[in-house]
Amino acid sequence: MAEILILVGTESGNAAMVADCLKDELAPLGHEVRVLEDGREAAERLTGTGIVLICTSTHGSGELPDNIIPLHEALSGARPDLSGLRYGVIALGDQTYRDTFCNAGRTLDALFAELGAQRVGERLEIDACTQPLPDEEALAWAKDWVTLL
Ligand SMILES: Cc1cc2nc3c(=O)[nH]c(=O)nc-3n(C[C@H](O)[C@H](O)[C@H](O)COP(=O)(O)O)c2cc1C
Repeated sequence: MAEILILVGTESGNAAMVADCLKDELAPLGHEVRVLEDGREAAERLTGTGIVLICTSTHGSGELPDNIIPLHEALSGARPDLSGLRYGVIALGDQTYRDTFCNAGRTLDALFAELGAQRVGERLEIDACTQPLPDEEALAWAKDWVTLL
């Protein structure tokens, strides 16, 4: 059983809803799940955390949601060694934004990898255009993902 910190990036609540759903469904399976939307606190908590699940949408033209920008800024600035960290990525986006589809999830994925963290499994990219139920797709993915931890 794993201790999982879900870091949420959201503007209008979809990614937060997905994270809350994962918490509700993974906890009864014996996992200890914490959901964090505060990007500043997230940056502080990464040290000493073993498993992170990034769950973020993309906004603007490929930009990170405002609440998770402080995490990106803190990591890009301090460049801590994250080699003790394993992580997964759930990226919410919309294929209508062809050039920047799921760019925030991809950006954080690349940054965590650059800092030495080890990604577990493939990144999940959820397209709002074709998937009206992101929580269901995320949950199916997460049930497999936790078996890889
Ligand atoms: C103003 C705006 C800009 C967006 N820009 C992008 C984008 O560049 N790339 C992308 O993949 N999705 C983009 N999206 C789609 C959102 O990522 C998608 O709707 C997501 O489900 C929103 O999740 P949230 O409620 O957690 O913020 C955009 C949505 C809006 C409303």
